Amino acid sequence: MSLFRKKSLSALLAQAADSEKGLKRTLGAGALVALGIGAIIGAGLFVRTAAAAGQHAGPAVTISFLIAAIGCAFAGLCYAEFASMIPIAGSAYTYAYTTMGELVAWIIGWALILEYALGAATVSIAWSEFLNKLLGGRIPYEWSHSPFQSALDAQGVLHSGILNAPALIVLLLLSLLLIKGTQESAFVNGIIVIIKLSIVIAFIIIGWQFINPDNHTPYMIPADAPPAILPDGKEYTYTDFFRHGWGGVLRGAAIVFFAFIGFDAVSTAAQEAKNPKKDMPIGILGSLAVCTVLYVLFSWVLTGVAPFTDFVKEGKEASVAYAIDTYMEGYRWLSTLITVGILAGFSSVILVMLMGQSRVFYSMANDGLLPKVFSELHPKFRTPYKSNMLLFLFVGTFATLIPGDITGDLTSIGTLLAFVLVCIGIIIMRKTDPTTPRPFRTPLVPLVPILGVLVCSAMIVSLDNVTLLSALAWMVLGLIIYFGYSRNHSKLKV
Ligand code: ALA
Repeated sequence: MSLFRKKSLSALLAQAADSEKGLKRTLGAGALVALGIGAIIGAGLFVRTAAAAGQHAGPAVTISFLIAAIGCAFAGLCYAEFASMIPIAGSAYTYAYTTMGELVAWIIGWALILEYALGAATVSIAWSEFLNKLLGGRIPYEWSHSPFQSALDAQGVLHSGILNAPALIVLLLLSLLLIKGTQESAFVNGIIVIIKLSIVIAFIIIGWQFINPDNHTPYMIPADAPPAILPDGKEYTYTDFFRHGWGGVLRGAAIVFFAFIGFDAVSTAAQEAKNPKKDMPIGILGSLAVCTVLYVLFSWVLTGVAPFTDFVKEGKEASVAYAIDTYMEGYRWLSTLITVGILAGFSSVILVMLMGQSRVFYSMANDGLLPKVFSELHPKFRTPYKSNMLLFLFVGTFATLIPGDITGDLTSIGTLLAFVLVCIGIIIMRKTDPTTPRPFRTPLVPLVPILGVLVCSAMIVSLDNVTLLSALAWMVLGLIIYFGYSRNHSKLKV
């Protein structure tokens, strides 16, 4: 059945060996861990932590982080086996092509567009907000928000967004950087990662002295917690199942899941890794482990410095700066520094997301499923420059015109779908190709992949109906393109 035609593993590996013609192999294990951290720490930590704590989990958002990390670790172990076995650009898409056939590969590739392209759009929107914060709100509302957003100013005048210009500008600059070359981009990314880590660690260490134990008691939100007052004067109650206790912790996990998105982006750089068999598992699991430790400590300090109810209102978006300004006397300089660090941190997240997306397009175009414009390399820089430019137009359209919460939820669902399919792929691959060398083996198969499928599916189900329907519409569009174009242009067509 042609829908399930597969790329052979040996052909894939030969393609990887033929690296003279392909992408340059420049990244070592350290660079890959940095790439992962660059992709991971971003809007999820600095924006979603406070939202999850304030609205659902309270100080127990630390447990939410652990739950989300466990789900990612199961999927990460599966990614690591694939990445070490099939060191080819394209990530989950490529793995699916050899295990589950062309149609499933297409579905994953199409879902990954949600993860990487819309992920980049989401973080660029957050970047725009923080830039405006740093500039003291000097960018007019109209030029820093989507047309679907509006707000009253202090005088009660209604402002509506036209387009989000700062988001577009940061996307353009980072796209140009990527076109210049991965090595240069990885170098810049490395510097940003150091700044970002320093700022997270500084907040943990300095903030630790300002922890008020009362803020951690009780640790989970009780069912009879008094309502919090929203900025518009309305009440926010905690009686709903997903707003207190373990229910709240679980919903919090689905929210902070966004903070872990990106560790799998390391696998998209497999073809540029110097020693992919050894370095890919280190890159994927290493970056995940480092971030989990930092997230738990960070959220412990954040919810210890400020009461979680503060994060229902103005403390929600610039949570760290808010907590420092309000509760850490004498450290206002730190809040400015942290905002600058956050801008740098967001930039590296966007960079890796754009890079991941262009590499997925590169692989899909190489296979004939997308037009070959997406796989044409720049004669000098050897980067898929046309793909980068088209991607900029696509991501830029979303970033300028769509609000960040919509793109954020779609990012999560696309990623979770890819995680589920990768976990299933490991079980299939062990049956269909039991003898292929696996430099890294996922432990306890099929238990670990099954747990990965369960945890990630639970998170998918917990997302709201609008997100689920939008994702469904996106997937239907993908199928129309597959049957209308890709199927007939596939290189596997005989
Ligand atoms: N994990 C990335 C972030 O938090 C997507 O921004």
